Amino acid sequence: MSQAAGAREFRLGVLTPPNHAWTRAAEAFGASLAAASDGRHTVVIYPSQQLGNEAQMLQQLQTGAIDMAFLTVAEVSNRVPDFGVFYAPFLVKDIEGAADILRSDHAHLMLGSLPRKIGVVGIGYGMGGMRQILTTSPTRNREDLQGKKIRITPFAPIRDFYNLLGAAPTPMPLASVYDGLANGQVDAIDMDLELIVKLRYHELGETVVLSNHMMFPMVGLVSARVWVRLSESERDLIQDLMRSELNALIDSYVLAEGKYEEQLRESSISVIDVDPGFFGSTAEQWDAIWLKRSPSLLELRNHD
Ligand code: BEZ
Repeated sequence: MSQAAGAREFRLGVLTPPNHAWTRAAEAFGASLAAASDGRHTVVIYPSQQLGNEAQMLQQLQTGAIDMAFLTVAEVSNRVPDFGVFYAPFLVKDIEGAADILRSDHAHLMLGSLPRKIGVVGIGYGMGGMRQILTTSPTRNREDLQGKKIRITPFAPIRDFYNLLGAAPTPMPLASVYDGLANGQVDAIDMDLELIVKLRYHELGETVVLSNHMMFPMVGLVSARVWVRLSESERDLIQDLMRSELNALIDSYVLAEGKYEEQLRESSISVIDVDPGFFGSTAEQWDAIWLKRSPSLLELRNHD
């Protein structure tokens, strides 16, 4: 069917599967854009890395081959190290603290550098749950993690964290985690509570170290090449609607975190509650490395 003049069908990529909260937020954004533009603008969502992994999706945004993506901030931090600040260990105490940081003026100012540095427009932040560690053998203390192969999302800040801890960080995409745990390819995983419970990773583990050691932000991006071709009113509309869905996503994680924790505690896996002291001086050592890479670290460590 031919499109009305100025009508657009945007392509939006996301790595998460169809029923994941990030994918649902992308769908909600598409529905609200279609409604607000009387059906002139539509968004086709490509979940489960159908357009490639996050590195490939970022490249496609840069060339304008895709229009939009919801990407982990991890992928952005691979190209713009300042964004590594969001993975500073114990930057925040809990999910409310993570929401606060992501809504801060400083976090939004950082998005302003993206068109010049990597050719994408950062619309706003979403997030996943706080990061925890699930191990396939009993874990009581930091020594139990020494030398353990711990699955990580592939990016430098988290790799440094586990290297400093004396573990063996093992990059593995989300889609491979269940099999990787089941067949013993890894001894542990770095993961959030939502996925531990929903994807039943807890049935394959012995201990969850409830540490809240890191936040896990996501960012809504539009290709800068696409952005410059939109009218001002189209940009405003996309910005308002995408930001509003990303904000709702943050609210939903803040609300749901306690529910997933309850479900985990009701399961048969053992849960140990730890504070930053469990990790020794890992956070201080991490800061010593990342202060050189991320000018925002001082600013956000002092955020109240
Ligand atoms: C992960 O790699 O652990 C992950 C990626 C996207 C959403 C949640 C978790």
